[in-house]
Amino acid sequence: MLDAVQHAVGRDAPVVEQKKLNRATQKFDFAARARLGSALFVGEGNFSFALALAHLKGVSPSSLLATEYEDEADLGDTAYDNAAKLLKLGAQVKTGVDATCLSKAIGPRRFRTIIFQFPNVASREALYG
Ligand SMILES: C[S@@+](CC[C@H](N)C(=O)[O-])C[C@H]1O[C@@H](n2cnc3c(N)ncnc32)[C@H](O)[C@@H]1O
Repeated sequence: MLDAVQHAVGRDAPVVEQKKLNRATQKFDFAARARLGSALFVGEGNFSFALALAHLKGVSPSSLLATEYEDEADLGDTAYDNAAKLLKLGAQVKTGVDATCLSKAIGPRRFRTIIFQFPNVASREALYG
């Protein structure tokens, strides 16, 4: 495969080292990160991902802060239910949190891991990619 790529881009192009390639394809271990504690979830949508991690053995829910961009009043039923479950487990939940201005909603608090999966502003405008 690498040979084919090398051939396509020309012999003078730098060779991609297999070690670097392996590193790039390693999967991010969300469970391991959650077990480390101090994890912030941004743009959680219906909170199902944070809830799944909060249930994992070895994860301390109280060290998780799950947030969503929408305000509480705009959450759907599933999001609302999952948020309630997270709170019951001891996790923190916050709505109306904008990833472009985290300090506004969260203040100076620091986190070991910040997770924002599938960011999407629901716009077709080029400005938003
Ligand atoms: C495609 S959904 C993904 C939801 C969830 N992360 C998941 O993986 O299921 C995109 C999410 O990004 C949120 N979002 C959009 N703009 C945002 C912003 N500026 N800050 C934080 N979240 C934002 C939306 O409210 C929505 O929940």
